[in-house]
Amino acid sequence: MPDLDQRVAIVTGAAMGIGRASALALARAGAAVLVADVDEEAGAQARADIEAEGGRAIFLRTDVRSFADAEACTAAAIEAWGKVDILVNNAARAIGGVVDEIDEASWNEVLSTNLTSVWRFIRCVAPHMRRQGGGSIVNISSVQALRGFHGWAAYAAAKGGINALTQQAAVDLAPARIRVNAVAPGTIMTPLNEKVFREAADPQELIDRWNAAHPLGRFGEAEEVAETVLFLASDRSSFITGEIIRVDGGLAIKGD
Ligand SMILES: NC(=O)c1ccc[n+]([C@@H]2O[C@H](COP(=O)([O-])OP(=O)(O)OC[C@H]3O[C@@H](n4cnc5c(N)ncnc54)[C@H](O)[C@@H]3O)[C@@H](O)[C@H]2O)c1
Repeated sequence: MPDLDQRVAIVTGAAMGIGRASALALARAGAAVLVADVDEEAGAQARADIEAEGGRAIFLRTDVRSFADAEACTAAAIEAWGKVDILVNNAARAIGGVVDEIDEASWNEVLSTNLTSVWRFIRCVAPHMRRQGGGSIVNISSVQALRGFHGWAAYAAAKGGINALTQQAAVDLAPARIRVNAVAPGTIMTPLNEKVFREAADPQELIDRWNAAHPLGRFGEAEEVAETVLFLASDRSSFITGEIIRVDGGLAIKGD
């Protein structure tokens, strides 16, 4: 288990799914975690779950579409624990739409929530990491940045942007000893996908098809993504920066 004792982490979208699993994993490794999420009830529950295991956490109602909220999160972590060592940019919304059908409001919503949010939080947190002498930033991307899936134009564009921003930020921040990496999950059974399946014309057909698309023959678990987040957040990955690690059961390399 990587030792994150005395480390301080901000995890966006930490109320549920991959963000919640990552926040719990970081807290179990000893980090104090600021749970940043727009969902007050689930966010408070995630904080309570961390504390119930003996971890340290605070919850701050945060909308990642707001620069002021990103600033407030950074300030709250520093006020509570004096620094920020780890930033996990995880919050996102899954809004589908074929490229020549999606409307501009949906496009802008996805890009602001899923991509510009990553820049907002890096912009607010990185200056503190610079002063502290280093840090680790982990962005949650998707295999959708690497392969085309029908009907996800804005979402895929946002994730492709995250991959480019990860590499760019890694180069910009390397002199300050801040590492920036991304995790690209395959299909993970979280509330996000439960909603996608609920809204599908034939949910079981979609579930079967997506399961079969992964060479390992199944969806992943949020905890399996959190393991890689934990690795990238910790000093065990001290010579890795600008990397995009797939946690996808082989989805992106399937050839037939
Ligand atoms: N589940 C998958 O199959 C899958 C696959 C690839 C990538 N991802 C990525 O993993 C990350 C987490 O996905 P998940 O499946 O756990 O999603 P989820 O919907 O289960 O959880 C997302 C969390 O983000 C929060 N959130 C949404 N909009 C927000 C906003 N404006 N401000 C603050 N918080 C906000 C939600 O309240 C929720 O707690 C996302 O970046 C997603 O794109 C997921």
